[in-house]
Amino acid sequence: MRVLVTGATGFVGSHLVPVLLDRGHEVVALVRDPATYDAPGGVEVVKGDVLDPDLTLPSVDVACYLVHSMGSGENFEERDRRAARTFLQAVDAAGIDRIVYLGGLGRDDDDLSDHLRSRREVERLLATGEADLTVLRAAIIIGDESASFQVIRQLAQRLPVMVTPSWVRTDCQPIYIDDVVSYLVGVLEDPETAGQTFEIGGPDVLTYEDILAQTAEILFGRRPVIVPVPVLSPGLSARWLGLVTDVPTSVAKPLVDGLQNPVVVTDDSIDSYVAVETTPFREAVRLAGSKRERSERRRVEA
Ligand SMILES: NC(=O)c1ccc[n+]([C@@H]2O[C@H](COP(=O)([O-])OP(=O)(O)OC[C@H]3O[C@@H](n4cnc5c(N)ncnc54)[C@H](OP(=O)(O)O)[C@@H]3O)[C@@H](O)[C@H]2O)c1
Repeated sequence: MRVLVTGATGFVGSHLVPVLLDRGHEVVALVRDPATYDAPGGVEVVKGDVLDPDLTLPSVDVACYLVHSMGSGENFEERDRRAARTFLQAVDAAGIDRIVYLGGLGRDDDDLSDHLRSRREVERLLATGEADLTVLRAAIIIGDESASFQVIRQLAQRLPVMVTPSWVRTDCQPIYIDDVVSYLVGVLEDPETAGQTFEIGGPDVLTYEDILAQTAEILFGRRPVIVPVPVLSPGLSARWLGLVTDVPTSVAKPLVDGLQNPVVVTDDSIDSYVAVETTPFREAVRLAGSKRERSERRRVEA
């Protein structure tokens, strides 16, 4: 199959591309700046920005949409909307029949955060074109380069005592990056999944408090004392996260807002199409930690 990957330079896209190649697919990577993209051998690189109204796409069997505008500041919802519309127009113009999109978990009838609502709006927009849309919805993806997991890891590393907002009691079902890639490849390769929406998650449902405490124990050998403070507003939490972690406030704010919504799988219909033996949370954190250690060692040796 010939597969277009938007967001090929990002966390999920950079894990997906080599697996698609291994499985014998032709991969076309759409990137904003080809000069800074270290493309794996065999990848066809196409320059393109999904905010460019003149965007044109090559002819492919499936287009994967792995783009968000979360780090772009105040108007990220408007950018997400514009990007999805422009991408869809280009998909239709290129006669592409299928789109696969990775969005966020969370119940529509909940008071969803701006970020999760925007992810859901992108789903609705992408479904309005000629192409059949397959949606996968996931909570936090565990992997070294994941912005949401970086927040968890840095909090776990830097704070022996955490004074945290009440969202630490919210349930979340994180999933390991390799499992996300297996699901993406699974739906790409199964035409029966066209037009459907699926929820994906790892085998463990945890509160953010558990996630923080277990990450600290696994990666740094100690459990932090967590003291929930109900009055810490999302705005203050984001600023506080910006101080304690390297994640910019523009990314921390939408992430923190989203932490107030439970993100748990309530529909397991994906199992009828794609079988993935998902990685337990503790193992996923260990794998992400050892990948980080290896890349730090390589940096020191270089
Ligand atoms: N990470 C998670 O925990 C998580 C959880 C659930 C769902 N997801 C979903 O997974 C998808 C991918 O997320 P990610 O974590 O891989 O994000 P990421 O690491 O921030 O990557 C985002 C990608 O989007 C590209 N991009 C942004 N604006 C663009 C534009 N205007 N035109 C073309 N490309 C553009 C970026 O390219 P540049 O290199 O040019 O900036 C980058 O490759 C998103 O839909 C996200 O909602 C992620």
